[in-house]
Amino acid sequence: MATPPGFQMQVLRENLLFLTSITVFILTLSAGVDVQPQEERYEPDYTCYHNVSSIETELRLLSMRHAGFIQLNNDYRSRAGHSQLVLRMSNFSSGVQTVAGGKVRVLLSYGEHAREFFPVESMLYFIKNVTNGASFSLNKSSNHTFSMWVLNNFDIIFIGMANPDGRDYIEKTRNYCWRGTQSGVDINRNFDWNFGGPGSSNNSKDGEFRGLHPFSEPETEVFRNLSYVFAPDAFISFHSGARHIYIPFADSLSQHSRRQPINKTLLLRLARYMSRSCPSRPFKFGLAYDLTGYTADGTAFDFMAGHEKIPFSLAVELWEHKKHEGQSCFDEFNPKSEVLQAELSLVHPMYIELLKYLQKWKKESFQRFQVKKDIDSLLIRRKKDDGHQRLPIRKNAMFYSEDSKANRDFGATLPSQLAFLMLFILMIALVALLVRHVCQMVRKKRIISLRSLSATFSLLKLS
Ligand SMILES: *[C@@H]1O[C@H](CO)[C@@H](O)[C@H](O)[C@H]1NC(C)=O
Ligand SMILES: *[C@@H]1O[C@H](CO)[C@@H](O)[C@H](O)[C@H]1NC(C)=O
Ligand SMILES: *[C@@H]1O[C@H](CO)[C@@H](O)[C@H](O)[C@H]1NC(C)=O
Ligand SMILES: *[C@@H]1O[C@H](CO)[C@@H](O)[C@H](O)[C@H]1NC(C)=O
Ligand SMILES: *[C@@H]1O[C@H](CO)[C@@H](O)[C@H](O)[C@H]1NC(C)=O
Ligand SMILES: *[C@@H]1O[C@H](CO)[C@@H](O)[C@H](O)[C@H]1NC(C)=O
Ligand SMILES: *[C@@H]1O[C@H](CO)[C@@H](O)[C@H](O)[C@H]1NC(C)=O
Ligand SMILES: *[C@@H]1O[C@H](CO)[C@@H](O)[C@H](O)[C@H]1NC(C)=O
Ligand SMILES: [Zn+2]
Repeated sequence: MATPPGFQMQVLRENLLFLTSITVFILTLSAGVDVQPQEERYEPDYTCYHNVSSIETELRLLSMRHAGFIQLNNDYRSRAGHSQLVLRMSNFSSGVQTVAGGKVRVLLSYGEHAREFFPVESMLYFIKNVTNGASFSLNKSSNHTFSMWVLNNFDIIFIGMANPDGRDYIEKTRNYCWRGTQSGVDINRNFDWNFGGPGSSNNSKDGEFRGLHPFSEPETEVFRNLSYVFAPDAFISFHSGARHIYIPFADSLSQHSRRQPINKTLLLRLARYMSRSCPSRPFKFGLAYDLTGYTADGTAFDFMAGHEKIPFSLAVELWEHKKHEGQSCFDEFNPKSEVLQAELSLVHPMYIELLKYLQKWKKESFQRFQVKKDIDSLLIRRKKDDGHQRLPIRKNAMFYSEDSKANRDFGATLPSQLAFLMLFILMIALVALLVRHVCQMVRKKRIISLRSLSATFSLLKLS
């Protein structure tokens, strides 16, 4: 059937229009959100939201008021010299030995992206939740029990403001679209994990500018150092703008080869628990390159998972707008001031699920590790007796092994001490048995000799 040529032209034009808009849409998505200033229709109310100086003041006060379980470290600094506010929270007077296998070590990072204010607020909410319940005057209340549980079973380090220069820049320029450091580097593209890939940019004007080389920015140093000296069991990089929990990996190479993290099942299980902590608005979760539809090269959480072999490494996007009309950046990444508290209380239970899961995992893997260690040491001892060479101990990031950096505060000493103790008890038991045996022998002999003696006597008597 013939159609009029005018109609065909119209269809063609419509198709073209459709294709063009799709292309523009995809280009916009792949380019990321612009960091150029936009006309903000909404600005935060700084009596609800903190600013750079009030975050610092707040954390300093908390560390002074609760010196027994909060320490603030100002050694790590940005390029402009601002403190990255590294805060450690744990009951410092309860040693690691009070918990079998040691306290669970957690490293949490906030404020990598300057315009994402919400994660930093969520950190403050969590810390204050714990400190508010820690006071002795609250003995036996459920608030107190909860805080004791956190402080005595966990050792948590918060990188409170990973990118203070960027925050400072926003507050001075009121460009709420700004994401990078003051010089525009996206520190979450500056890590040594597929650095330089297409999921980042070499253009210093781009929001995903990766910097000149891995760790070119002083802001990324703190991650590398803490990963080494603290050897966390879990690392989480907090963001906002979506409601997602990502497990590694996000980089383009992994997407291409469909690389999976070693303990994918465990990571997904953790993500599921965390997602369910908010039944009214559950988080989406999955492999980062599957869930996002874009790739990100040189990210903190990929580096922690792939390079540093941290057992649990996640990126969590805490908040997503319901409907955003564009124009304004602040409310694209952060809830409006009026609903800030409600949104904070909504994400708070996620921390509890995270901690509960990690505690359970650590306890179980410690128990498994002990059994393995005992078997290993028996095998090694037997091998030695056979005159063979000592078996190499298999490396396993999930466990504490002799060659693991994680031994620093807990050490391989406890299991080997236990093995030694068991050996000692065994020796004592053997000696005791031997002594008993010898005693019995002696007694028997004496009885025999007494008998024979009495027999002699009786013989003598008789005679
Ligand atoms: C930051 O917030 C505090 C407390 O709300 C306020 O007193 C201070 O003036 C603010 N600082 C700046 C630089 O806006
Ligand atoms: C980070 O680690 C490096 C190398 O171990 C060390 O030189 C540097 O002083 C550390 N930085 C801080 C702030 O501790
Ligand atoms: C800290 O640990 C000590 C020693 O185990 C204990 O006596 C104290 O109650 C704990 N304090 C808190 C706040 O958990
Ligand atoms: C802290 O959060 C926990 C878990 O949501 C809650 O049970 C506890 O009551 C909170 N404590 C305070 C002081 O708000
Ligand atoms: C709470 O317990 C501590 C020690 O466990 C005790 O010193 C203190 O008096 C108690 N406070 C109250 C209000 O019961
Ligand atoms: C526990 O904390 C919550 C929130 O801070 C508070 O409303 C509640 O009164 C506290 N409960 C007790 C028993 O102190
Ligand atoms: C930046 O990357 C593009 C392609 O990704 C490349 O063509 C260009 O030469 C690079 N520029 C610099 C300065 O490296
Ligand atoms: C993954 O985790 C499980 C459970 O903790 C452990 O048995 C396994 O060895 C881990 N695998 C690796 C490669 O770390
Ligand atoms: Zn972000």
